[in-house]
Amino acid sequence: MTDPFGFELSRKGKLPLAVQISQGIGAAILEGRLAPGARLPSWNDLAAQLGVARGTVRAAYERLLDEQLITASGPAGTYVSQQLPAREKSVNEPEEASLADFFTGFSAPPKVFQMGVPAQDAFPFKLWSRLMARAARLAAAAPVSYPDPRGEPDLRRGIAAYLAIARGVQCRPSQIFITSGYAAALNLIIQTLDLKGAKAWIEDPGFPVSRKSLGLAGVGTVPVRVDGEGIVVTEGIAAAGNAAVALVTPGQQAPLGMALSPARRRELIDWARLSGAWIIEDDYLSELQLQGRAAPALAAQDDSGRVIHIGTFSKTITPTLRLGFVVVPAALMAKFHDAVACLSPASNATAQRAVAEFIRDGHYLRHLRRMKKLYRARRDVMKTRFNDAAPVETMAGLAVLLRLPAGARDVDIAARAAVLDMAPRPVSLWYARDDLRRSGLLLGVTNATGKHFDLSCTRLKRLIRDFS
Ligand SMILES: Cc1ncc(COP(=O)(O)O)c(C=O)c1O
Repeated sequence: MTDPFGFELSRKGKLPLAVQISQGIGAAILEGRLAPGARLPSWNDLAAQLGVARGTVRAAYERLLDEQLITASGPAGTYVSQQLPAREKSVNEPEEASLADFFTGFSAPPKVFQMGVPAQDAFPFKLWSRLMARAARLAAAAPVSYPDPRGEPDLRRGIAAYLAIARGVQCRPSQIFITSGYAAALNLIIQTLDLKGAKAWIEDPGFPVSRKSLGLAGVGTVPVRVDGEGIVVTEGIAAAGNAAVALVTPGQQAPLGMALSPARRRELIDWARLSGAWIIEDDYLSELQLQGRAAPALAAQDDSGRVIHIGTFSKTITPTLRLGFVVVPAALMAKFHDAVACLSPASNATAQRAVAEFIRDGHYLRHLRRMKKLYRARRDVMKTRFNDAAPVETMAGLAVLLRLPAGARDVDIAARAAVLDMAPRPVSLWYARDDLRRSGLLLGVTNATGKHFDLSCTRLKRLIRDFS
Protein backbone atom coordinates (compact mmCIF):
# COMPACT_ATOMS: atom_id res chain seq x y z
CA MET A 1 0.00 0.00 0.00
CA THR A 2 1.27 3.51 -0.88
CA ASP A 3 0.92 6.14 1.81
CA PRO A 4 0.57 9.91 1.48
CA PHE A 5 4.34 10.31 1.93
CA GLY A 6 5.19 8.16 -1.07
CA PHE A 7 6.58 4.94 0.42
CA GLU A 8 5.35 1.38 0.23
CA LEU A 9 4.74 -0.84 3.23
CA SER A 10 5.87 -4.41 2.90
CA ARG A 11 4.06 -6.92 5.07
CA LYS A 12 6.31 -9.79 4.04
CA GLY A 13 9.67 -8.23 4.83
CA LYS A 14 11.43 -8.67 8.16
CA LEU A 15 11.36 -4.95 8.99
CA PRO A 16 8.58 -4.12 11.49
CA LEU A 17 5.81 -1.88 10.12
CA ALA A 18 6.54 0.86 12.68
CA VAL A 19 10.17 1.03 11.53
CA GLN A 20 9.09 1.15 7.87
CA ILE A 21 6.68 4.00 8.61
CA SER A 22 9.24 6.00 10.62
CA GLN A 23 11.86 5.48 7.90
CA GLY A 24 9.43 6.51 5.16
CA ILE A 25 8.31 9.68 6.92
CA GLY A 26 11.89 10.40 8.02
CA ALA A 27 13.09 10.18 4.41
CA ALA A 28 10.26 12.51 3.28
CA ILE A 29 11.37 15.04 5.92
CA LEU A 30 15.08 14.80 5.17
CA GLU A 31 14.54 15.02 1.42
CA GLY A 32 12.43 18.15 1.87
CA ARG A 33 9.16 16.59 0.65
CA LEU A 34 7.71 17.37 4.08
CA ALA A 35 8.65 20.92 5.02
CA PRO A 36 9.63 22.06 8.53
CA GLY A 37 6.47 23.00 10.43
CA ALA A 38 4.18 20.75 8.31
CA ARG A 39 1.46 19.00 10.27
CA LEU A 40 1.39 15.19 10.31
CA PRO A 41 -1.85 13.15 10.32
CA SER A 42 -3.14 11.94 13.69
CA TRP A 43 -2.36 8.34 14.75
CA ASN A 44 -5.93 7.31 13.94
CA ASP A 45 -6.02 8.91 10.51
CA LEU A 46 -2.70 7.56 9.36
CA ALA A 47 -3.46 4.12 10.80
CA ALA A 48 -6.74 4.01 8.88
CA GLN A 49 -5.08 5.19 5.71
CA LEU A 50 -2.27 2.63 5.88
CA GLY A 51 -4.43 -0.19 7.22
CA VAL A 52 -2.27 -0.71 10.30
CA ALA A 53 -2.99 -0.60 14.03
CA ARG A 54 -3.05 2.78 15.76
CA GLY A 55 -0.28 1.58 18.10
CA THR A 56 1.97 0.95 15.08
CA VAL A 57 1.72 4.58 13.96
CA ARG A 58 2.25 5.71 17.53
CA ALA A 59 5.46 3.62 17.76
CA ALA A 60 6.64 5.11 14.44
CA TYR A 61 6.00 8.65 15.66
CA GLU A 62 7.88 7.90 18.88
CA ARG A 63 10.95 6.91 16.88
CA LEU A 64 10.72 10.13 14.88
CA LEU A 65 10.34 12.12 18.10
CA ASP A 66 13.39 10.41 19.53
CA GLU A 67 15.31 11.40 16.41
CA GLN A 68 14.01 14.97 16.80
CA LEU A 69 12.61 14.93 13.27
CA ILE A 70 9.13 15.80 14.58
CA THR A 71 7.69 17.60 17.61
CA ALA A 72 4.47 16.69 19.43
CA SER A 73 2.24 19.44 20.81
CA GLY A 74 -0.36 17.21 22.50
CA PRO A 75 -3.88 17.81 21.22
CA ALA A 76 -2.58 20.60 18.93
CA GLY A 77 -0.99 17.91 16.74
CA THR A 78 2.35 16.60 15.56
CA TYR A 79 4.61 18.70 13.35
CA VAL A 80 7.83 18.38 11.36
CA SER A 81 10.66 19.96 13.40
CA GLN A 82 11.69 23.48 12.47
CA GLN A 83 15.40 22.67 12.99
CA LEU A 84 16.59 19.95 10.66
CA PRO A 85 20.13 18.72 10.10
CA ALA A 86 22.08 19.21 6.89
CA ARG A 87 21.46 16.22 4.64
CA GLU A 88 24.26 13.88 3.60
CA LYS A 89 24.78 13.67 -0.13
CA SER A 90 23.28 10.64 -1.78
CA VAL A 91 25.79 8.35 -3.43
CA ASN A 92 23.99 8.85 -6.72
CA GLU A 93 24.50 12.58 -6.87
CA PRO A 94 27.10 13.71 -9.36
CA GLU A 95 30.66 14.05 -8.21
CA GLU A 96 30.68 17.73 -9.17
CA ALA A 97 28.21 18.38 -6.34
CA SER A 98 29.32 21.02 -3.87
CA LEU A 99 31.30 19.89 -0.86
CA ALA A 100 29.31 22.28 1.33
CA ASP A 101 27.45 19.40 2.94
CA PHE A 102 30.65 17.45 3.52
CA PHE A 103 31.86 20.06 5.96
CA THR A 104 29.37 21.33 8.50
CA GLY A 105 29.41 22.46 12.10
CA PHE A 106 32.11 25.10 11.74
CA SER A 107 33.46 26.64 14.95
CA ALA A 108 31.25 24.32 17.04
CA PRO A 109 32.37 21.66 19.50
CA PRO A 110 32.84 18.26 17.84
CA LYS A 111 29.77 16.04 17.58
CA VAL A 112 29.85 12.45 18.77
CA PHE A 113 31.87 10.28 16.30
CA GLN A 114 33.04 13.32 14.33
CA MET A 115 36.26 12.48 12.54
CA GLY A 116 39.12 14.76 11.60
CA VAL A 117 39.23 16.81 14.80
CA PRO A 118 41.50 16.35 17.83
CA ALA A 119 40.16 15.75 21.35
CA GLN A 120 38.28 18.75 22.67
CA ASP A 121 38.87 17.87 26.32
CA ALA A 122 42.62 17.22 26.10
CA PHE A 123 43.85 20.35 24.42
CA PRO A 124 46.41 22.19 26.61
CA PHE A 125 44.37 25.42 26.78
CA LYS A 126 46.33 27.10 29.54
CA LEU A 127 49.73 26.55 28.00
CA TRP A 128 48.43 27.44 24.58
CA SER A 129 46.86 30.73 25.76
CA ARG A 130 50.15 31.66 27.39
CA LEU A 131 52.11 30.96 24.21
CA MET A 132 49.63 32.86 22.04
CA ALA A 133 49.63 35.86 24.40
CA ARG A 134 53.43 35.95 24.35
CA ALA A 135 53.51 35.62 20.57
CA ALA A 136 50.97 38.45 20.21
CA ARG A 137 53.11 40.71 22.44
CA LEU A 138 56.23 39.91 20.41
CA ALA A 139 54.34 40.53 17.17
CA ALA A 140 53.14 43.91 18.47
CA ALA A 141 56.71 44.88 19.36
CA ALA A 142 58.21 43.60 16.10
CA PRO A 143 59.70 46.11 13.62
CA VAL A 144 57.14 47.45 11.16
CA SER A 145 58.24 45.55 8.07
CA TYR A 146 57.08 42.72 5.84
CA PRO A 147 57.45 39.26 7.35
CA ASP A 148 59.14 36.51 5.31
CA PRO A 149 56.53 35.26 2.79
CA ARG A 150 57.85 31.72 3.28
CA GLY A 151 56.85 31.81 6.96
CA GLU A 152 58.52 32.67 10.28
CA PRO A 153 62.15 31.44 10.27
CA ASP A 154 61.82 30.04 13.83
CA LEU A 155 58.87 27.92 12.83
CA ARG A 156 60.55 26.64 9.69
CA ARG A 157 63.63 25.70 11.74
CA GLY A 158 61.39 23.94 14.28
CA ILE A 159 59.56 22.00 11.58
CA ALA A 160 62.84 20.92 9.94
CA ALA A 161 64.08 19.58 13.28
CA TYR A 162 60.76 17.86 14.03
CA LEU A 163 60.61 16.24 10.58
CA ALA A 164 64.13 14.87 10.99
CA ILE A 165 63.29 13.26 14.35
CA ALA A 166 59.71 12.14 13.82
CA ARG A 167 59.31 11.59 10.07
CA GLY A 168 62.85 10.79 8.95
CA VAL A 169 62.87 13.73 6.50
CA GLN A 170 66.20 15.49 6.05
CA CYS A 171 65.57 19.01 4.79
CA ARG A 172 66.76 22.56 5.32
CA PRO A 173 64.42 25.24 6.67
CA SER A 174 64.74 26.99 3.30
CA GLN A 175 62.88 24.06 1.68
CA ILE A 176 59.87 24.69 3.95
CA PHE A 177 56.97 27.02 3.11
CA ILE A 178 54.23 27.82 5.63
CA THR A 179 50.65 27.79 4.32
CA SER A 180 47.08 28.19 5.54
CA GLY A 181 46.64 24.47 6.04
CA TYR A 182 46.47 21.62 3.56
CA ALA A 183 44.19 23.17 0.95
CA ALA A 184 46.42 26.22 0.54
CA ALA A 185 49.48 23.97 0.35
CA LEU A 186 47.92 21.88 -2.40
CA ASN A 187 46.86 24.99 -4.30
CA LEU A 188 50.36 26.44 -4.01
CA ILE A 189 51.80 23.26 -5.54
CA ILE A 190 49.23 23.16 -8.35
CA GLN A 191 49.97 26.78 -9.28
CA THR A 192 53.73 26.63 -8.91
CA LEU A 193 54.05 23.48 -11.00
CA ASP A 194 51.47 24.79 -13.49
CA LEU A 195 49.41 21.62 -13.35
CA LYS A 196 46.29 23.00 -15.03
CA GLY A 197 45.27 20.63 -17.82
CA ALA A 198 47.55 17.83 -16.53
CA LYS A 199 46.43 14.50 -15.09
CA ALA A 200 46.78 13.47 -11.44
CA TRP A 201 46.38 10.07 -9.83
CA ILE A 202 44.26 10.17 -6.72
CA GLU A 203 43.65 7.34 -4.31
CA ASP A 204 40.23 5.67 -4.48
CA PRO A 205 38.87 5.89 -1.85
CA GLY A 206 40.49 9.22 -1.03
CA PHE A 207 39.96 12.59 0.62
CA PRO A 208 37.04 14.27 -1.23
CA VAL A 209 38.58 17.72 -0.74
CA SER A 210 41.71 16.71 -2.64
CA ARG A 211 39.62 15.42 -5.54
CA LYS A 212 37.56 18.59 -5.61
CA SER A 213 40.59 20.92 -5.27
CA LEU A 214 42.30 19.33 -8.26
CA GLY A 215 39.08 19.49 -10.26
CA LEU A 216 38.55 23.18 -9.45
CA ALA A 217 42.10 23.92 -10.56
CA GLY A 218 41.52 22.24 -13.93
CA VAL A 219 43.60 19.14 -13.15
CA GLY A 220 42.10 15.89 -14.49
CA THR A 221 41.78 13.29 -11.74
CA VAL A 222 42.45 9.59 -12.34
CA PRO A 223 41.11 7.52 -9.43
CA VAL A 224 43.44 4.60 -8.66
CA ARG A 225 42.38 1.65 -6.52
CA VAL A 226 43.81 1.12 -3.06
CA ASP A 227 44.43 -2.37 -1.62
CA GLY A 228 45.99 -3.62 1.62
CA GLU A 229 49.36 -2.11 0.62
CA GLY A 230 48.01 1.29 -0.39
CA ILE A 231 47.68 2.70 -3.91
CA VAL A 232 48.07 0.06 -6.64
CA VAL A 233 50.84 1.70 -8.67
CA THR A 234 50.65 -0.73 -11.60
CA GLU A 235 46.97 0.18 -12.09
CA GLY A 236 47.88 3.88 -12.01
CA ILE A 237 50.50 3.29 -14.71
CA ALA A 238 48.02 1.29 -16.80
CA ALA A 239 45.32 3.97 -16.49
CA ALA A 240 47.51 7.05 -16.92
CA GLY A 241 51.24 6.37 -17.01
CA ASN A 242 51.72 9.90 -18.38
CA ALA A 243 50.10 11.63 -15.39
CA ALA A 244 52.03 14.62 -14.08
CA VAL A 245 51.25 13.93 -10.43
CA ALA A 246 50.28 11.26 -7.90
CA LEU A 247 48.59 12.58 -4.77
CA VAL A 248 48.95 10.01 -1.99
CA THR A 249 48.66 9.50 1.77
CA PRO A 250 51.56 7.07 2.36
CA GLY A 251 51.78 7.34 6.17
CA GLN A 252 48.15 6.32 6.80
CA GLN A 253 45.89 6.03 3.80
CA ALA A 254 42.91 8.37 4.06
CA PRO A 255 40.41 7.02 4.94
CA LEU A 256 41.35 3.30 5.19
CA GLY A 257 44.43 3.72 7.36
CA MET A 258 47.02 1.32 5.90
CA ALA A 259 50.60 2.50 5.32
CA LEU A 260 51.97 2.39 1.78
CA SER A 261 54.09 -0.77 1.69
CA PRO A 262 57.87 -0.59 1.09
CA ALA A 263 57.45 -2.28 -2.32
CA ARG A 264 54.78 0.20 -3.43
CA ARG A 265 56.90 3.13 -2.22
CA ARG A 266 59.70 1.92 -4.44
CA GLU A 267 57.39 1.44 -7.44
CA LEU A 268 55.89 4.88 -7.00
CA ILE A 269 59.22 6.68 -6.69
CA ASP A 270 60.63 4.72 -9.66
CA TRP A 271 57.62 5.65 -11.80
CA ALA A 272 57.98 9.33 -10.85
CA ARG A 273 61.69 9.30 -11.61
CA LEU A 274 61.32 7.59 -14.99
CA SER A 275 58.30 9.57 -16.16
CA GLY A 276 59.28 12.93 -14.67
CA ALA A 277 56.10 13.04 -12.57
CA TRP A 278 55.70 14.59 -9.11
CA ILE A 279 54.47 12.79 -6.01
CA ILE A 280 52.51 14.91 -3.56
CA GLU A 281 52.62 13.35 -0.12
CA ASP A 282 49.69 14.33 2.12
CA ASP A 283 51.09 13.58 5.58
CA TYR A 284 47.98 14.85 7.38
CA LEU A 285 48.42 12.71 10.51
CA SER A 286 52.19 13.05 10.74
CA GLU A 287 53.33 10.59 13.43
CA LEU A 288 49.88 10.31 15.05
CA GLN A 289 49.73 6.61 14.39
CA LEU A 290 47.70 4.50 16.80
CA GLN A 291 48.84 1.05 15.62
CA GLY A 292 52.51 0.37 16.27
CA ARG A 293 55.18 2.77 15.09
CA ALA A 294 54.41 5.41 12.50
CA ALA A 295 55.63 4.57 9.01
CA PRO A 296 58.27 7.07 7.83
CA ALA A 297 57.32 9.82 5.45
CA LEU A 298 57.74 9.02 1.77
CA ALA A 299 59.87 12.17 1.47
CA ALA A 300 62.34 10.47 3.82
CA GLN A 301 62.97 7.79 1.17
CA ASP A 302 63.01 10.07 -1.85
CA ASP A 303 66.24 9.64 -3.75
CA SER A 304 64.71 11.06 -6.93
CA GLY A 305 63.88 14.61 -5.85
CA ARG A 306 60.29 14.05 -7.00
CA VAL A 307 58.41 14.04 -3.65
CA ILE A 308 56.70 17.18 -2.36
CA HIS A 309 55.60 16.76 1.23
CA ILE A 310 52.58 18.50 2.82
CA GLY A 311 52.13 18.65 6.59
CA THR A 312 49.41 20.25 8.72
CA PHE A 313 48.96 21.05 12.41
CA SER A 314 45.19 20.50 12.21
CA LYS A 315 45.23 16.99 13.67
CA THR A 316 48.37 17.22 15.78
CA ILE A 317 47.53 20.54 17.49
CA THR A 318 44.23 22.10 16.38
CA PRO A 319 42.44 22.96 13.12
CA THR A 320 41.66 26.44 14.49
CA LEU A 321 45.24 27.37 13.56
CA ARG A 322 44.73 26.64 9.85
CA LEU A 323 48.46 26.13 9.62
CA GLY A 324 50.27 23.76 7.33
CA PHE A 325 53.49 23.58 5.35
CA VAL A 326 55.06 22.30 2.16
CA VAL A 327 58.53 20.75 1.99
CA VAL A 328 59.92 20.89 -1.54
CA PRO A 329 62.95 19.17 -3.13
CA ALA A 330 65.96 21.49 -3.23
CA ALA A 331 65.62 21.97 -7.01
CA LEU A 332 62.17 23.57 -6.56
CA MET A 333 63.13 25.98 -3.76
CA ALA A 334 63.56 29.11 -5.89
CA LYS A 335 60.38 28.49 -7.87
CA PHE A 336 58.34 28.10 -4.68
CA HIS A 337 59.99 31.14 -3.13
CA ASP A 338 58.81 33.28 -6.06
CA ALA A 339 55.36 31.71 -5.99
CA VAL A 340 54.71 32.36 -2.30
CA ALA A 341 56.07 35.90 -2.49
CA CYS A 342 53.79 36.77 -5.41
CA LEU A 343 50.75 34.53 -4.92
CA SER A 344 50.30 33.40 -1.32
CA PRO A 345 52.63 34.75 1.36
CA ALA A 346 52.37 33.00 4.73
CA SER A 347 49.94 34.73 7.07
CA ASN A 348 49.13 34.63 10.77
CA ALA A 349 52.62 35.33 12.12
CA THR A 350 51.34 35.27 15.72
CA ALA A 351 50.10 31.68 15.48
CA GLN A 352 53.31 30.73 13.67
CA ARG A 353 55.40 32.09 16.53
CA ALA A 354 53.29 30.30 19.14
CA VAL A 355 53.68 26.99 17.29
CA ALA A 356 57.42 27.62 16.94
CA GLU A 357 57.72 27.96 20.71
CA PHE A 358 55.45 24.95 21.28
CA ILE A 359 57.83 22.86 19.17
CA ARG A 360 61.07 24.38 20.47
CA ASP A 361 60.26 23.84 24.15
CA GLY A 362 59.37 20.18 23.66
CA HIS A 363 55.61 20.60 24.19
CA TYR A 364 54.76 19.33 20.72
CA LEU A 365 56.41 15.91 21.05
CA ARG A 366 55.01 15.55 24.58
CA HIS A 367 51.52 16.49 23.39
CA LEU A 368 51.69 13.97 20.54
CA ARG A 369 52.81 11.24 22.93
CA ARG A 370 49.88 12.00 25.25
CA MET A 371 47.35 12.14 22.44
CA LYS A 372 48.48 8.79 21.05
CA LYS A 373 47.92 7.18 24.44
CA LEU A 374 44.55 8.84 24.90
CA TYR A 375 43.29 8.02 21.39
CA ARG A 376 44.39 4.39 21.71
CA ALA A 377 42.36 4.05 24.91
CA ARG A 378 39.34 5.70 23.26
CA ARG A 379 39.66 3.48 20.22
CA ASP A 380 39.61 0.40 22.45
CA VAL A 381 36.42 1.57 24.14
CA MET A 382 34.82 2.26 20.76
CA LYS A 383 35.68 -1.23 19.50
CA THR A 384 33.97 -2.92 22.41
CA ARG A 385 30.81 -0.80 22.01
CA PHE A 386 30.13 -1.89 18.43
CA ASN A 387 31.20 -5.49 18.39
CA ASP A 388 27.65 -6.82 18.50
CA ALA A 389 25.89 -4.59 15.90
CA ALA A 390 28.52 -3.74 13.31
CA PRO A 391 32.06 -4.92 14.03
CA VAL A 392 34.98 -2.61 13.60
CA GLU A 393 36.58 -3.67 10.34
CA THR A 394 39.73 -1.65 10.60
CA MET A 395 41.41 1.25 12.27
CA ALA A 396 41.29 4.17 9.84
CA GLY A 397 43.71 6.85 11.00
CA LEU A 398 42.04 8.46 14.00
CA ALA A 399 38.75 6.75 13.20
CA VAL A 400 37.41 3.22 13.04
CA LEU A 401 35.56 1.82 10.03
CA LEU A 402 32.41 -0.10 10.89
CA ARG A 403 31.35 -2.88 8.59
CA LEU A 404 27.59 -2.62 7.99
CA PRO A 405 25.22 -5.51 7.48
CA ALA A 406 24.45 -6.25 3.80
CA GLY A 407 21.99 -3.79 2.31
CA ALA A 408 22.49 -1.05 4.91
CA ARG A 409 23.24 2.26 3.15
CA ASP A 410 25.76 4.34 5.05
CA VAL A 411 24.37 7.67 3.75
CA ASP A 412 20.90 6.85 5.10
CA ILE A 413 22.24 5.91 8.53
CA ALA A 414 24.48 8.98 8.66
CA ALA A 415 21.60 11.30 7.72
CA ARG A 416 19.46 9.87 10.51
CA ALA A 417 22.33 9.94 12.98
CA ALA A 418 22.89 13.64 12.24
CA VAL A 419 19.42 14.35 13.59
CA LEU A 420 20.51 12.88 16.88
CA ASP A 421 23.59 15.11 16.96
CA MET A 422 25.98 12.37 15.91
CA ALA A 423 28.42 12.66 13.03
CA PRO A 424 29.43 9.25 11.65
CA ARG A 425 30.78 9.62 8.09
CA PRO A 426 29.63 7.42 5.23
CA VAL A 427 32.75 5.88 3.69
CA SER A 428 30.93 5.70 0.32
CA LEU A 429 31.42 9.48 -0.05
CA TRP A 430 35.18 8.94 -0.19
CA TYR A 431 34.96 6.84 -3.35
CA ALA A 432 35.20 8.33 -6.85
CA ARG A 433 34.51 5.20 -8.90
CA ASP A 434 31.12 3.49 -8.77
CA ASP A 435 32.69 0.06 -9.30
CA LEU A 436 34.80 0.45 -6.15
CA ARG A 437 32.27 2.20 -3.90
CA ARG A 438 31.12 0.38 -0.78
CA SER A 439 29.18 1.15 2.35
CA GLY A 440 30.58 1.60 5.86
CA LEU A 441 30.69 4.14 8.64
CA LEU A 442 33.75 6.04 9.81
CA LEU A 443 33.63 6.98 13.49
CA GLY A 444 36.21 9.36 14.89
CA VAL A 445 37.69 8.06 18.15
CA THR A 446 39.33 11.27 19.37
CA ASN A 447 36.27 12.51 21.25
CA ALA A 448 34.82 9.12 22.19
CA THR A 449 34.07 9.99 25.79
CA GLY A 450 31.60 11.86 27.96
CA LYS A 451 28.03 11.37 29.07
CA HIS A 452 26.49 11.35 25.59
CA PHE A 453 28.91 8.82 24.17
CA ASP A 454 27.36 5.61 25.54
CA LEU A 455 23.85 6.74 24.68
CA SER A 456 24.98 7.67 21.18
CA CYS A 457 26.53 4.23 20.67
CA THR A 458 23.23 2.61 21.64
CA ARG A 459 21.29 4.91 19.31
CA LEU A 460 23.65 4.40 16.39
CA LYS A 461 23.48 0.63 16.82
CA ARG A 462 19.70 0.83 16.74
CA LEU A 463 19.81 2.87 13.56
CA ILE A 464 22.15 0.33 11.99
CA ARG A 465 19.73 -2.46 12.85
CA ASP A 466 16.75 -0.45 11.56
CA PHE A 467 18.41 0.13 8.21
CA SER A 468 19.69 -3.44 7.76
C1 LIG B 1 43.49 13.23 4.11
C2 LIG B 1 43.47 14.61 4.63
N1 LIG B 1 44.33 15.49 4.16
C3 LIG B 1 44.34 16.76 4.59
C4 LIG B 1 43.44 17.18 5.55
C5 LIG B 1 43.27 18.63 5.91
O1 LIG B 1 44.22 19.34 6.44
P1 LIG B 1 43.90 20.85 6.87
O2 LIG B 1 43.10 20.80 8.09
O3 LIG B 1 45.25 21.42 7.02
O4 LIG B 1 43.13 21.51 5.77
C6 LIG B 1 42.54 16.30 6.08
C7 LIG B 1 41.56 16.76 7.07
O5 LIG B 1 40.63 16.14 7.44
C8 LIG B 1 42.53 14.98 5.61
O6 LIG B 1 41.66 14.09 6.07
